[in-house]
Amino acid sequence: AIKIATIGGGSSYTPELIEGFIKRYKELPISEIWLVDVEDGKEKLEIVGRLAQRMWDATPYNVKVITTLNRKEALKDADFVTTQFRVGLLDARIKDERIPLLHRMLGQETNGAGGMFKAFRTIPVMKEIVEDMKELCPDAWLINFTNPSGIITEAVIKHFGWKKCIGLCNVPVIAMMNEPKVIGKQVSELNYQFAGLNHFHWHKVFDEDGIEVTGQLIDHINEKNGGTPANIYLAEFSLELLHSMNLLPCGYHRYYYSEKEMLEHSIEEFEKGGTRAEQMKEVEASLFEIYKNPNLNVKPEELQKRGGAYYSEAACECISAIYNNKGIHMVVSTQNNGAIPCLNSDSIIEISCLISAKGATPIAWGKMGAFEKGHLQIMKAMEECTISAALLGDYGVALQAFTINPLIQKGGEAKKVLDELLVVHEKYLPQF
Ligand code: NAD
Ligand code: G6P
Ligand code: MN
Repeated sequence: AIKIATIGGGSSYTPELIEGFIKRYKELPISEIWLVDVEDGKEKLEIVGRLAQRMWDATPYNVKVITTLNRKEALKDADFVTTQFRVGLLDARIKDERIPLLHRMLGQETNGAGGMFKAFRTIPVMKEIVEDMKELCPDAWLINFTNPSGIITEAVIKHFGWKKCIGLCNVPVIAMMNEPKVIGKQVSELNYQFAGLNHFHWHKVFDEDGIEVTGQLIDHINEKNGGTPANIYLAEFSLELLHSMNLLPCGYHRYYYSEKEMLEHSIEEFEKGGTRAEQMKEVEASLFEIYKNPNLNVKPEELQKRGGAYYSEAACECISAIYNNKGIHMVVSTQNNGAIPCLNSDSIIEISCLISAKGATPIAWGKMGAFEKGHLQIMKAMEECTISAALLGDYGVALQAFTINPLIQKGGEAKKVLDELLVVHEKYLPQF
């Protein structure tokens, strides 16, 4: 019998996760899913917990959903722990996004100043979770979805010493799901290779005969084809730039390659209808109204409005691949081990891997061009400074992280954004 513990169980994404487990029940016979949350998320936890149980009750399988505010009780003897929590809920994300935008800097849940503050709030909690796991479920796998996913996964593996951790993101899943059709192919006919960091990876693609089709796919990248998560504005990429690299960037690269357009669009949206976080708060409220319906026993379509749609494809497939020693290709955050030679061997990267009972084995990518390499090393340094600042609570190191982040305007304005965010998030930043 497999026990799953999900931290942040009150998330509106939980029905996705349940749907993924239901679909895979025959290969992954779980018996209990413990949904853990905190006092502030209690109401959400109860609503989504009841829906989750109704979803199982509509199947022939006997699976129990248990909701709790007691993390230790949930972690006890768990086989897989999934993390999908947001310290401070969407209200904290609103501040992460609003404050930088008021200073005409990008505010985004994983990029720029907001993403770094999400890491500052999350890392101390993650540390406690790993400490509990050492005591209560020392053999469990930790499947992390909490953003900034790559940074959090690096903190868990490198700093808290929990090697059985894999970081996830739906961006590669969505790319492989939707991109092949633009060149009249199925994903099964193509060979995908990804490498980089979470929300900062590139990929290249080959057909069945080993002929590279990356260039053909680049020509379609500015079309709306569903290959990019719903939360990212499709500012145009320069095709000359992409052809010169001969790589397909991920959607989040738009913040770096088309920074001005992305910032202007964010400010425009913000002035019109509020930040993405404020809009998602409304979507969340209407989702929970739907979840309350006692006759509902499937995942509602409306959840697809969230950028994280299809993340359970990654989560449940990854768990099943470990449990069943599948050896399948998945794109996850894991330890580099030389797969990207221009980054340290113990750095966490997001890369094409084979997933088996041993966990993730990265597929070597090889040398990066000067352009990709330089950008990648800066982003990794930014991630490392962010983690150090989160662990030490050191203002100077936080300023280092801000200063090296390409999306933050250096100098006095950066300091103002840092100071304001430190004040509004004080409650969740015991280390500072
Ligand atoms: P949310 O605001 O609904 O938060 C999820 C739950 O976490 C809430 O019910 C909240 O009460 C709970 N929580 C807060 N602090 C907690 C703690 N200390 N312990 C346990 N639970 C706690 O968030 P959401 O919008 O559903 O997103 C969930 C998480 O998933 C976020 O971190 C988000 O960034 C991440 N996410 C990741 C991806 C990806 O591609 N990796 C995609 C979408 C969302
Ligand atoms: C994307 C990403 C997530 C991101 C999320 C935001 O697809 O992969 O990491 O944070 O969706 O979605 P939202 O709907 O909350 O803005
Ligand atoms: Mn993601």
